[in-house]
Amino acid sequence: MLRKVLTVLVTLLVLLPMPLRDPAVAAAAPRVTYDHHSLMIDGRRVVVQAAEVHYFRLPSPGLWRDVLEKIRAGGFNAISVYFDWAYHSPKPGVYDFTGVRDVDRFLRTAERAGLYVIARPGPYINAETTGGGFPGWLKNVPGRARSSDAGFTEAYRDWLHHINPIIARHQVGHGGSVILYNAENEYAVSTDAAYMQDIQDQARADGVDVPITTNDCCDAGSWSSTWAEGPGAVQIPGVDDYPQSFDCANAETVWGPWGEGTTERLRDDAPVFAAEYQAGAIDGNDAGYDRCRELTGPAYMKYFYKSNLLVSGATLFNYYMGFGGTNWGFLAQPNDVYTSYDYGAAVTEARGLTAKYDEFKRQGYFLQAVAPLAKTDPTAAPTTDNPAIGVVARANPDTGTRFALVRHADRAATTADTATLSWTVPDGTYSLPVQVKGRDAHVLVGGYDMGGQRLAASSSEILTHAFVGGRDVAVLYGTAGSTGATILRYSAKPRVTVLEGDVRSTYSDGNLRLDYTHERLARVLITGGGRRPLLLLLGTDETAATFWRTGTDAEPVLVRGTSLVRSTAVDGGTVRLAADTAEAGEVEVFAEASRLRVGDAEVRVTRTPSGSLLGRVPGPREVRLPALRGWRVRDETPEATPGFDDSSWRRADKTTTESPMKPPMKPEPGPVLYADDYGFHYGDVWYRGRFTATGAETAVALNAITGRRGRYLVWLDGRYLGSAAGGTEADADAGTPDPGPGRFAIPAGLLKPGRQATLAVLVQNMGHNDDWTADDNRFKQPRGLVAAAVEGSAASIAWKIQGARGGEDLPDPVRGPLNTGGLYGERSGWHLPGYPDRSWDEAGSPADRPLAPGVTWYRTGFRLDLPEGQDVSVGLRFGGDIPAAARVVVYLNGWNVGQYGGGIGPQKEFVLPAGLLREHGRNTLALALTATERASGGPGPIGLFAYGNVRGGVTVPDVPAPSYPLAR
Ligand code: GAL
Repeated sequence: MLRKVLTVLVTLLVLLPMPLRDPAVAAAAPRVTYDHHSLMIDGRRVVVQAAEVHYFRLPSPGLWRDVLEKIRAGGFNAISVYFDWAYHSPKPGVYDFTGVRDVDRFLRTAERAGLYVIARPGPYINAETTGGGFPGWLKNVPGRARSSDAGFTEAYRDWLHHINPIIARHQVGHGGSVILYNAENEYAVSTDAAYMQDIQDQARADGVDVPITTNDCCDAGSWSSTWAEGPGAVQIPGVDDYPQSFDCANAETVWGPWGEGTTERLRDDAPVFAAEYQAGAIDGNDAGYDRCRELTGPAYMKYFYKSNLLVSGATLFNYYMGFGGTNWGFLAQPNDVYTSYDYGAAVTEARGLTAKYDEFKRQGYFLQAVAPLAKTDPTAAPTTDNPAIGVVARANPDTGTRFALVRHADRAATTADTATLSWTVPDGTYSLPVQVKGRDAHVLVGGYDMGGQRLAASSSEILTHAFVGGRDVAVLYGTAGSTGATILRYSAKPRVTVLEGDVRSTYSDGNLRLDYTHERLARVLITGGGRRPLLLLLGTDETAATFWRTGTDAEPVLVRGTSLVRSTAVDGGTVRLAADTAEAGEVEVFAEASRLRVGDAEVRVTRTPSGSLLGRVPGPREVRLPALRGWRVRDETPEATPGFDDSSWRRADKTTTESPMKPPMKPEPGPVLYADDYGFHYGDVWYRGRFTATGAETAVALNAITGRRGRYLVWLDGRYLGSAAGGTEADADAGTPDPGPGRFAIPAGLLKPGRQATLAVLVQNMGHNDDWTADDNRFKQPRGLVAAAVEGSAASIAWKIQGARGGEDLPDPVRGPLNTGGLYGERSGWHLPGYPDRSWDEAGSPADRPLAPGVTWYRTGFRLDLPEGQDVSVGLRFGGDIPAAARVVVYLNGWNVGQYGGGIGPQKEFVLPAGLLREHGRNTLALALTATERASGGPGPIGLFAYGNVRGGVTVPDVPAPSYPLAR
């Protein structure tokens, strides 16, 4: 009974649109509503086209604006954002939302850029982040994560009560642009309905009043069909689809191995929601992200995205990822990713725009311009005279507008085929030529009130249309070389002037028919006929992508040319563009204006026969980046020497742990050595173990878990014994207690009877596993040593442990918990600007300084003064091939911007983001190189380079962060 009452109460809470806390607010009508077809914002239907973006993968708030403006200009009207618990919380009860963690600022920036937000605070997020977003300290909390167990409940509620109020104050109707709240993440196995429900109850109690969603996976449907009315059910369930798989290495041949990719409808009273639709890939096989971009390139986007739109009728889309960014610091989950999280996304990690961006723009502009798309039902498709071409159609029941998807009937076909469609739309029946060339798809529109025009039918696709300068301007496009026809309705014969290109027109029975071939950009001016004038621009995929649509609904501006138009303003006859240019070229503007300014500069323009303004804009000035010279070098690893003072280290003598992987692991029972149990969650960890020797010892047998691609190094009495690969998985109960074994022979005579011997072990921590299975078995895998023994010895070993300085009490909260590990140099501030390295040796170049086991640091500085009003995206490139025995942590001005090494992924170039990079000042680079063997080659040549250089960009303030020495 009690349970029933609770359930009713809980259900009431969920249904209440407003927080209970504020009765005044509770009276207001919800601003975000929905029905079977779409979301409505203030009663207006919207097709939500979101790009996934993670603020925590771009630690430079000034650049958030750059990326979000690019997303907006690329035809998106929304972003979807995970909030990463681990990124904000170094310690139970401690949260930080300042500086690079200032999510208030991020949400404000999104709103200013004109983007709605789908907020995804987890508590579990996956996202290839360390622990799937769970903080390291959560491994020490009793109770199964992602369940309603008491310990976990207390922990996640604390997180939600910190993040929810921030999200709540940025909702639509509260001064922001958050439109949806996503509870949990792909919560499909080992589920617990009470937990799923409680997340939603906490959100409501914290003032979240927008509809709640979740992203379902793996056909589980658990929070929708099965549970539709029960605890845990969400209002708008969505589905994650990755039809193209993550097989970037075989980008040319892979074609939809993971399904049709048409998003399933999960509830009849809610729109179809593609909660995560594949727009890039994890690079688990080290193919490199350019291959992932190929795997998910324009052909895939056209076929799958357009199919999804027309087959499933989805009106809520989130593309994962729009901009991937960087796993800076120790943010990466070790199994699937490395430092770069570029993801093969439309906007690259270095903030460059790609061919995928162009395709998003073509599709996104269409979705934004053609309102009837927000409400469609399946309808009879046009007939085709070629069975190789299949057609599917939908119609808006209110306006009668028709949409037809034209693509190969056989999904795998790569041929070029043509057909004639016979299409009955409200205006009549029309015959249209269509062509599908290879893997492609087109969405055709019929029966559409296009501004002041009536588009009966067209075999060209609509990019956008706008009422500018007293007439409609519409941009249509098709595959270069293909035949096109467009039919417009008039009450009398209009006047047709072909301004450019080869377009034939005929008129009969109110139908003006234009026939043409899609090539370059044809221009047709149509006046009279009982309608306001129309300028029709007929282009190809390529020329369509050169257009930008900005401004407001009331004052739209269309621009052709430049590399990016961020925004426009029309003021007293002058149109101002905030634009980026990668090279000098034409700019053409359709606006209610006679003068043009781009950035700060006036541009001389002429008026074209199309009524637009035409001018030329300059490209960027060339930039020379300095060579990296004056390196200084210092070996560290003092921990390996027997006399090292470890009196301040923590004793590792715990006998119990919250980890479900209980000792004993092989080879011997002993104390709990797991690093997390001692508060060291990220980066390298040192152990020192003392025992009394007899001289009969033969070998050291160790076992460690590092996560994929991690290693550990072993010294005995200062003598290097070697290294071994750390493990990823252990489960003593399941009979796999031997995750990362290493056996190291002890040289005869090294240990003296009766004398104390000192073992020193450096264990890398590549990050924490995710918790995808929601059963603690992956996430709570230990890190660090899990077992140790000295063969031939009965003596017990007294262990001490040392990790990142301060453990959970951060000495540098600005750079945060994920920035440094427990290397001697990291603990001593050698990575920081201002560290006095004058006493270090001069290294010349670290390029080929021989490697020796242990850790060596390199430092240098360089000065930049990049041109104002330009955006130079700077990177660090390692040339040559680093020996497999070496890996490097790269620090830029104290920020850990990457890990480079033969054994840890294909990455050789690292983004140095403006903001962390002082664009006008002195920069410090520090490299911590760990080698596991002697080798003759060093890390290879190291230099700066530019990923891109444009005139324009945004102003990026330096991110303030402490120099050496840290205060605590
Ligand atoms: C999804 C998950 C995301 C991300 C993605 C792969 O299953 O929800 O967080 O991990 O896969 O990149």
